[in-house]
Amino acid sequence: MTLNARPAASVLVQQRKWPDEGVSRVPAWIYSDEALFEREMETFFAGNTWNYVGLEVEVPEPGNYLRTFIGTKPVLVTRDLDGKINVLENRCAHRGAPVCWKQRGKSTDLTCPYHHWTYDLGGNLLGVAFMRGNPKPNPGMPNDFDKRNHGMRQLRTTVRGGAIWASFSDATPELDHYIGPQVLEFVDRAFNGRPLRLLGYSRQTIPCNWKLYFENARDPYHATLLHTFFTTFGLFRADAHTRATPSDDGRHEVTYSWFDSKAQEKNADLSKDIKNIITDLKLHDMEIVKPKQEFADGRIGTLEVFPSMVLQQHVNTLAVRHIIPKSPTVTELSWIYFGYEDDDETLRRLRLKQGNLTGPAGYVSLDDSEVLKQMQPVVQNYPDSVQVVEMHGRDHIGVSETSVSESMIRAFYTFYRREMGL
Ligand SMILES: [Fe+2]
Repeated sequence: MTLNARPAASVLVQQRKWPDEGVSRVPAWIYSDEALFEREMETFFAGNTWNYVGLEVEVPEPGNYLRTFIGTKPVLVTRDLDGKINVLENRCAHRGAPVCWKQRGKSTDLTCPYHHWTYDLGGNLLGVAFMRGNPKPNPGMPNDFDKRNHGMRQLRTTVRGGAIWASFSDATPELDHYIGPQVLEFVDRAFNGRPLRLLGYSRQTIPCNWKLYFENARDPYHATLLHTFFTTFGLFRADAHTRATPSDDGRHEVTYSWFDSKAQEKNADLSKDIKNIITDLKLHDMEIVKPKQEFADGRIGTLEVFPSMVLQQHVNTLAVRHIIPKSPTVTELSWIYFGYEDDDETLRRLRLKQGNLTGPAGYVSLDDSEVLKQMQPVVQNYPDSVQVVEMHGRDHIGVSETSVSESMIRAFYTFYRREMGL
């Protein structure tokens, strides 16, 4: 053994275990361990899951394509010349170069820049440069080379209400069963078959482990405390009617609250636990905090479809936050803002204006990326430390009727530990 020899990363994972207290504790090493990250990518993103990859409205016409990722794997969403949606590995079957290098575009076929192998939009290999050799007498490719065996790999793909999902696995149950009734109701409420209208994108890289973001989006406890914009301007308060519901296995969840006109009023009583609230701040344009009731049930909130989608309905903004892990310590978050084709001009403008609440520089969301960025070096450099997740009961992992709860985080780690064998 040399002086620099270190145990293999997988050995480290095996040596580390989950704290005996169970899901009311989260060990910090899970946010930076490289071997664990590789296993998560294979077990979850490339495993028996459905991954959000895009919206149909992003590839509206035959020939449109969109480059994206499932976990760390580059993929391509295409609408072929027959109008069918495909999701392909963005990988040339020849030498593994990415076939498509543009974020979005339109073409009748796809040509790999490296050696000009050409594919149709369903990934079928159409042509090989110098197939029959050049100059003679070079024989070119062997005579038994069959183009049908060398296409770009097509993933299992499904489209529901305008959202496109893909799976690397044939064993994944159908999308509706995968999501489950508790969360599907709210996925279908946003993707309800009305033609969507794409309103815009923003993208950010957060230097944190993807699970810190996944937890953040199912952690209503922090909402009124970290996000003083919410509390100051009455968009969300700890006394709002809130309900968080996990899927049967805890991997997905939906958290929503009822819009209450009284929530526009400031309440000194509820602010007393919030140290840094400034109650005399004023907005010049109150429209950003005055939602127009849109859905009959009046409920607003966010949901998570494991492993890659957060769907938000904050005031009148609708957006997918696409979670794209890059490494154990870096996560890309891609925000796709949308509305409906038949929105009137007032609602379209409200959606755009209220879009400023979220995204990389959002009045509310920038707090999340900043706190997670600050948190990553701490958890990563204290890998043996343990976090306490006891709010609303150590063992409570079911429906919670309060925003002051960490039940959804415990529900997630109940699932996670089982799948990862931890
Ligand atoms: Fe937050």
